Amino acid sequence: MGRKKISIIGAGFVGATAAHWAAAKELGDIVLVDILEGIPQGKALDLYEASPIEGFDSNVIGTSGYDETRGSDIVIITSGVPRKPGMSREDLLGINRRIIESVVSQVLERSPNTILMMVTNPLDTMTYLAFKKSGLPRERVIGMAGILDTARFRAFIAMELGVSVEDIQALLLGGHGDEMVPLPRYTTVSGIPLSQLLSREKIDQLVDRTRKGGGEIVNLLKTGSAFYAPSAGVIQMAEAVLKDKKRLLPCCVYLNGEYGLKDICFGVPVKLGAKGVESIIELELTEDEKALVAKSAESVKKSITELKL
Ligand code: APR
Repeated sequence: MGRKKISIIGAGFVGATAAHWAAAKELGDIVLVDILEGIPQGKALDLYEASPIEGFDSNVIGTSGYDETRGSDIVIITSGVPRKPGMSREDLLGINRRIIESVVSQVLERSPNTILMMVTNPLDTMTYLAFKKSGLPRERVIGMAGILDTARFRAFIAMELGVSVEDIQALLLGGHGDEMVPLPRYTTVSGIPLSQLLSREKIDQLVDRTRKGGGEIVNLLKTGSAFYAPSAGVIQMAEAVLKDKKRLLPCCVYLNGEYGLKDICFGVPVKLGAKGVESIIELELTEDEKALVAKSAESVKKSITELKL
């Protein structure tokens, strides 16, 4: 049995950091691809040279072409332009769509059986584009956003309560935008409902900070967007698939009637295993939560419509 193969397209901040997490977890061999010459090769060699120190056995190759990606089990797509201050995720649409279309076709030519994991923003729209352009079944095109957004919510709750991040379980629905729908009702600290530990007002503040979490980092960095947590998020998805873990994680997937939504890629809880998305979990929602989901879906739909597919 050979090692698994993970290709990462885009060797920028998110892509290179994803390669780092994947290598550290020894998930398989890694191919790092970028249009820039030298960057993927240099970062891959540097990462490989860390392996004797850290003790991982993963081949790490950097390339500016696609032949080395042949037969990938998973392809993570991070190529694109990141958000700059004042730029919305939607502003990125025009630039990133051309990149994604070309990347998806080059990847699939060589790895028709792969599972695509999308990170490029605007996430829900780029996942939809990749789903439509690839022709793959919906269980094999998965966008990473919900893991990142819930991780931010969990981090803020841990900071507020002064407890371990590990004890916080949270769930979230919706698009990866400021209208995402964190679900405090489905959030617990070691099984204790969040509402027993924090006031309504405080929870609302944390939800608000979570919604604006991407922008908070952009405003601090000034020259780019978040990369540690987004790359960790997509590697958690890759690990769930490669190890057939059957994890329940919020991911962006194509919906066909679930949550009353059709023909949209949207964040919902799914079961992730060797086949990719093995099932979609439909939660019971209150009328208020349903209204928030509808609002988020509307803004994702608007962006998808701009693709004019
Ligand atoms: N093929 C391959 N790589 C490409 C292509 C292409 N057609 N076009 C651009 N790239 C590469 C760039 O050369 C760059 O190295 O994608 C990389 C993107 O890296 P960064 O600019 O560092 O951006 P990053 O912070 O990694 O974010 C990537 O993830 O979270 C999202 O919003 C973020 O859409 C952005 C993506």
